[in-house]
Amino acid sequence: MKLVIFGPPNAGKGTQSQKLSEKYKIPQVSTGDLLRKAVSDKTPLGLKVKSYLDQGRLGPDRLIVQIIKERIAKPDCKNGYILDGFPRTMAQAYELEKITQVDIVLNIVLDFNALLERAVGRRVCPKDGMVYHIEYNPPTKLAGACDKCGNELIQRDDDREETVRERLRVYKEQTEPLIEYYKQKCKLVDIDGAGGIDSVFKQMIVAIENIGKVA
Ligand code: AP5
Repeated sequence: MKLVIFGPPNAGKGTQSQKLSEKYKIPQVSTGDLLRKAVSDKTPLGLKVKSYLDQGRLGPDRLIVQIIKERIAKPDCKNGYILDGFPRTMAQAYELEKITQVDIVLNIVLDFNALLERAVGRRVCPKDGMVYHIEYNPPTKLAGACDKCGNELIQRDDDREETVRERLRVYKEQTEPLIEYYKQKCKLVDIDGAGGIDSVFKQMIVAIENIGKVA
């Protein structure tokens, strides 16, 4: 099964991808996580993309496609994967189509104010990428620490309000056009992102179980 989790910044793509990965036992492939890891490890790739992430702009298509190709060629992807944050431009969508056919694109729909509120309250584990929210999804074991590994949670650099606004602008300009593209291919299902995490997850499960019946 090959899924694309689509939507604007902070819509809940990572949160839902982690839950789907657990349920279907296929890996979450997040370009954002891969790029942040490269930046924190100061690899040559990380040095190249750091300024893009800091400014909320998209990294170069050629580089991003290469990262995806290498990641999905790994053995853990042989039964499928969940693409989180890819594709994000028409050029990336065309490249993806050359590599594989995805089964479904789950498009999380949420308004601007809710996206901003989710960004401001988001906390992440720098070690394993687990995502929390100070109000909507706080850690359950120890305040401010990852439930999985106990590491101290941090705020992402690009969750500052002006960077979030820039990421949303970039989304509207470069990523939103993909909605029409996947609609025309009858692959896209809208998911109401305004409900709680479990309610969004349930909608996704229903959509996945109806793959092939999408009109
Ligand atoms: P990336 O990491 O992909 O960022 P993004 O798309 O902006 O998405 P986010 O990770 O910010 O949000 P999300 O939708 O995953 O929401 P989350 O689950 O965390 O990319 C970062 C950067 O990398 C880009 O700006 C770009 O520079 C670069 N990049 C990445 N991919 C690229 C590509 N393909 N091409 C070029 N460049 C690329 O949830 C947000 C918060 O809300 C959390 O606190 C969560 O707990 C909470 N929450 C989630 N769901 C709910 C809910 N239902 N109710 C209440 N709270 C909720």
